[in-house]
Amino acid sequence: MNRNAIYPGTFDPITNGHQDLVRRAATIFDHVIVAIAANPNKAPMFPLDARVSLARRVLHDLPNVEVLGYAGLTVEFAKKHNVGVVVRGLRAVSDFEFEFQLANMSRHLERDIETVFLTPQEQFTFISSTLVREIAVLGGDVSEFVHPIVEVELKKHRRV
Ligand SMILES: Nc1ncnc2c1ncn2[C@@H]1O[C@H](COP(=O)(O)OP(=O)(O)OP(=O)(O)O)[C@@H](O)[C@H]1O
Ligand SMILES: [Mg+2]
Repeated sequence: MNRNAIYPGTFDPITNGHQDLVRRAATIFDHVIVAIAANPNKAPMFPLDARVSLARRVLHDLPNVEVLGYAGLTVEFAKKHNVGVVVRGLRAVSDFEFEFQLANMSRHLERDIETVFLTPQEQFTFISSTLVREIAVLGGDVSEFVHPIVEVELKKHRRV
């Protein structure tokens, strides 16, 4: 059985919520690829290489986790890396509709790929990269939501 998984997302930047999910996935699967999508249509704050580098530094202690950037379809990336499971996170009901649609579309595109959902510890359920970026740009404190090395990078984008 293929016990490898990918956890795809934009990770702009990686938050403590993402980190919680990766750590859970790393205990369930033999190998986890954190797959960071270039996603130019989302106009990311951090370029792809910076998002990859931050995630690598935050997750460096996990020997069975690898961080890779990619462009194109997630299911193609999964196939290329011989991965049969896609991990996604559910924070609240609000995530469900989009995630359900995405999981069904992935299955439609590639029927052998299963999507598995994990939930974070409850203090991480309200964290999103979007909110963290907005707070940081406005000079708010994000130290509870991101790793200190991510906080340093976010401070460079402060506008007030
Ligand atoms: N705090 C969190 N707890 C659990 N899952 C999360 C959390 N933040 C993101 N995820 C999940 O991680 C996956 C990748 O998310 P993504 O890269 O879009 O992060 P995001 O925080 O939602 O960023 P953005 O606000 O830019 O959309 C998605 O399945 C998302 O639901
Ligand atoms: Mg999102």
